[in-house]
Amino acid sequence: VLNIASLARDHDMFTFDPGFMATASCESKITYIDGDQGILLYRGIPIEQLAEKSNFLEVSYLLVNGELPTAQQLGEFSHAVQYHTMINESLLRFFNGFQYNAHPMAMLSGVVASMAAFYHDSMDINNPRHREIFAHRVIAKIPTIAAAAYKHSLGQPFVYPRNDLDYCSNLLHMFFAVPCEQYSVDPVAAQALDLLFILHADHEQNASTSTVRMAGSTGTNPYAAISSGISALWGPAHGGANEAVLAMLEQIGTVENVPKYLAKAKDKNDHFRLMGFGHRVYKNFDPRATIIRTMCHKVLAKLGKSDNPLFELALKLEEIALKDEYFVERKLYPNVDFYSGIIYSAIGIPQSMFTVMFAIARSVGWVAHWQEMIADPAMKISRPRQIYTGPAQRDYMEMSDRG
Ligand code: ACO
Repeated sequence: VLNIASLARDHDMFTFDPGFMATASCESKITYIDGDQGILLYRGIPIEQLAEKSNFLEVSYLLVNGELPTAQQLGEFSHAVQYHTMINESLLRFFNGFQYNAHPMAMLSGVVASMAAFYHDSMDINNPRHREIFAHRVIAKIPTIAAAAYKHSLGQPFVYPRNDLDYCSNLLHMFFAVPCEQYSVDPVAAQALDLLFILHADHEQNASTSTVRMAGSTGTNPYAAISSGISALWGPAHGGANEAVLAMLEQIGTVENVPKYLAKAKDKNDHFRLMGFGHRVYKNFDPRATIIRTMCHKVLAKLGKSDNPLFELALKLEEIALKDEYFVERKLYPNVDFYSGIIYSAIGIPQSMFTVMFAIARSVGWVAHWQEMIADPAMKISRPRQIYTGPAQRDYMEMSDRG
């Protein structure tokens, strides 16, 4: 491997790689992707095995600590996360400053950044114990903040966490419980959410994780770095795609309209893209999309919603696109977000909250990458170069001499 860093130091050379198509920004032991084969491994373990046998908190432990936990380690980790689910009451008051119809990602990014102002008591980034507490706080408190954002958008009172529930059941409880009304979490919904969270937990140097690493490389407060990741995730080319897919399916409406929208997606003068299709790394099926498609069938059946017209439409769209020369030539396949929104919808999560759900899951990956980077003695500030294309050196022109 060519060591560009030493080349740059010795000869002032650097690569020009817009969009970082061919640049490895770091070494990492966390997640492996083979985009041609459609392989995804967390700490060496295939995503298919984790999806079948594990749960989100165990996967979180694996990503952050590098190994699967023993029963005792998992118990201690789950307890530490549960211990931190409450948020400071003053932090809750931030929501009063947001309009009820603000996008929840805007609220999430703002309130998570403000965690830097509340949880700075144990935030020496060079102290491993402080870094561990930070991890527990992020994994525990982001769901609570996300649920508060949802309740604020509805104008409903905030619902406090229930630490006797598992991670996803507690999240659903905070979303859907209403004071003075009976609410019990549907285990089908909680299991579906847990599986989606496993699949979204990490994906090596994607845009939001790279953002967290870049911000974190300056030594900034890590909650601020996580907030920058949330902002990067929001865009429709990244995590915002799950919301955009459902909007697109609703816009397409019926199978008869599929050819018209495929033609739009292929037209270079049209900004329309087939949302949930294509990936920078996968040039084959995204293994997460394959798992989610199968899961979608099962979840809809269990919830008695098998006749979901958007799912039928998505299946048909995938079938037609995969036979289309344009998509075949460019190796464009459904990605993780093509089917996830259908499941979120089926369990009652509103469209505007889809990317927030992604952020909750991905926050584990962000923490794992931040930890890995900060613990590396060779860490350097991320500081790319550029190819300057502006004017050559010229003199300041007095106002009286300008046209
Ligand atoms: N619909 C139509 N054409 C597409 C699509 C699409 N969804 N995706 C890529 N293409 C075309 C491009 O127009 C380009 O065509 P060209 O070679 O004729 O110019 C070619 O395929 C390569 O696409 P790029 O945009 O250069 O690929 P890149 O790796 O930069 O982008 C991305 C990847 C952003 C995911 C892109 O495929 C896309 O916009 N997809 C839709 C949004 C989406 O689903 N994002 C979620 C990604 S997964 C995630 O972040 C969780």
